[in-house]
Amino acid sequence: MNSLHSGDRIAIITSGGDAPGMNAAIRGVVRVAQNRGLQVLGVRWGYQGLLKGDMDLMSVRDVDGISRRGGTMLGTSRCPEFLTEAGRKKGVAILHEQKIKGIIVIGGNGSLAGAHALAAYNDHTGVPFRVVGIPASIDNDIGCTSMCIGTDTALNTIVEACDRIADTACAHARTFLIEVMGRDCGYLAMTAAIASESDGVLMREENLSPEQVLDRLVGIVQQAYDPNGRQQVVVIKSEGVKTPIDYLKTQLDKRLAETDMPIRVETRVTVLGHVCRGGIPTAADRLMSQRLGHAAVRAVEQGRSDCMTSWHVLSRPSDPKVSVFELDPYITFWPLEHVLEETARIANGSSEVTKWRLRIMREIEPILAQ
Ligand code: F6P
Repeated sequence: MNSLHSGDRIAIITSGGDAPGMNAAIRGVVRVAQNRGLQVLGVRWGYQGLLKGDMDLMSVRDVDGISRRGGTMLGTSRCPEFLTEAGRKKGVAILHEQKIKGIIVIGGNGSLAGAHALAAYNDHTGVPFRVVGIPASIDNDIGCTSMCIGTDTALNTIVEACDRIADTACAHARTFLIEVMGRDCGYLAMTAAIASESDGVLMREENLSPEQVLDRLVGIVQQAYDPNGRQQVVVIKSEGVKTPIDYLKTQLDKRLAETDMPIRVETRVTVLGHVCRGGIPTAADRLMSQRLGHAAVRAVEQGRSDCMTSWHVLSRPSDPKVSVFELDPYITFWPLEHVLEETARIANGSSEVTKWRLRIMREIEPILAQ
């Protein structure tokens, strides 16, 4: 193995959409690395900053108190240039200049694709870089990990918002449509609906036509304003359902006006948007992030590369490249190629994970609306 030694340099990058818990992962990396005798360079503004050589050595004092802050202290960006070969060569030249031998990338799909591509290059001594990814995405849309950094905090933020909205929905006997983040993945919408006792959920993965979405909404509202119903409705729509929420409200109002409802139902719309992404990380996110950061440093130190640290995956394939982190039974290392393939399957619906989520939703949909 291509191990690192005391005094060797590694870089840490946060990239793509920020996620609460990224700071705790940075803290974990810096503190473990210092303890192991490695030097850490913090790259500012993601891959965009790497291409400009925007980085500095970090000490444990730099990461004091950061776990309790959302966002990322290093800054982040979405950087299409790094997905080109020319862009990567520019980045590699800077890594050579700085004598960096290992790179830890904290981010989602695009960031991990960048990490996988980087793993094909050699460091300044002519041996392959050690590149390890850490999954961070509030959407929980990354393959081969049961949770991503930021998902738990986003879920708690959404549930708190839904609870508040449920109070006012109840007070006015109103219907609320709430849109939550999740570009291609309805995980946040689904889990928030269950945790907040909402009446329904609309996920992109269901592939419903606008007409089917409306039929579902009308059914939920009719059931709720039945004499035995609870006289209020909260439905959570995932961002990935492309029918605009204002259009859904207008059409729902129209359909309800044509229906023989016992009372006149008023509907309101709330789009949570980036509120879902910010805020103080939960304890669960802080702990998981630091444990993933710890594993990433130990992996880089041992000379592992082109892999991702992953959280508590129940079943593992027989692929010999998937290995357990000997110090933490919740953590496994997965080849990045495999992670990216499974991430694509989660998005296109062919993953067993997506199929399972849909099966569960079909089971609980009628139960939510009772
Ligand atoms: O990070 C994931 C995410 O928050 C998605 O849920 C959302 O679609 C997207 O990022 C928004 O990205 P941006 O902040 O770049 O508009």
